[in-house]
Amino acid sequence: MNTEIKKACEIVRQAGKLMDTSDLEIEQKGNLSNYVTDADKAVEAFLTERLTGLISKSEVLGEENHHRIHDVSDVWVVDPIDGTSNFIRGIGFSGISVGLVKDGEPYAGIIFNPYRDEMFVAEKGQGAFLNGKKITVSDRDFSHSHLCSAMCLYDKRYAAPCFRIIEEVYMQSDDLRRMGTASLELAMVAAGRAELYFEMRLFPWDAAAGFALIREAGGVAECLHYDSFPLDRPFPVIAANTPENFEKLKEIVCRHVPTVPYDERITL
Ligand code: IPD
Ligand code: CA
Ligand code: CA
Repeated sequence: MNTEIKKACEIVRQAGKLMDTSDLEIEQKGNLSNYVTDADKAVEAFLTERLTGLISKSEVLGEENHHRIHDVSDVWVVDPIDGTSNFIRGIGFSGISVGLVKDGEPYAGIIFNPYRDEMFVAEKGQGAFLNGKKITVSDRDFSHSHLCSAMCLYDKRYAAPCFRIIEEVYMQSDDLRRMGTASLELAMVAAGRAELYFEMRLFPWDAAAGFALIREAGGVAECLHYDSFPLDRPFPVIAANTPENFEKLKEIVCRHVPTVPYDERITL
């Protein structure tokens, strides 16, 4: 594994210490169910300063601050606390997600769950690891799969097709999980703890690290209806442990979501 990625893991681990729930200041962001805390902001500020020092000319695209991206090839894509709602409620399933997107494609991913001290890391061509041990996707077929999904929490206009997709997959698979932290759920697919993943509307910071992990763990992860990984907008995401399961999930999702049903841009 590249030295910069190893150093980035240490920086992410240190940032985990800032995930402190005592005296939390909680603000609502635009939408009823969307929150940000002072801890989200502190983690992002810490990571922005440290990560940009690791690779010259690299920049950060972060959820809370959307640092402007010039035409650079290395972009750290940062979700300072993924699963903020779980974090506020003390559920113990939230994490820090840091993807490194190189020339427009997810190249490396670091996802840290401080509650379980689980550090997931992957780098292109080097494999995927959990606390230093190699991980691979499971070989379960569709009927024995667990689906991780959600119902488009921050834009409930799209909740109905999500429920229809979930119902259709649920009837043909083993079970469903709605755990509230997209990046850790993608990491679960990489680690063989779940097999299928669908979300209608993820942002680059939710998905970049998870894509690198799943691909290096032998699975498939794609932005539906996009050939590459957009850094300027939200997109639907499908992922699976095997190409067969991916195609089956994609067929179901595409019937309900034939095109991206929104046209939004991240405001920098
Ligand atoms: C959210 C969580 C949630 C997922 C949403 C994400 P946040 O991120 O990962 O599980 O369903 O799509 O936006 O707001 O907690 O960083
Ligand atoms: Ca997130
Ligand atoms: Ca977040």
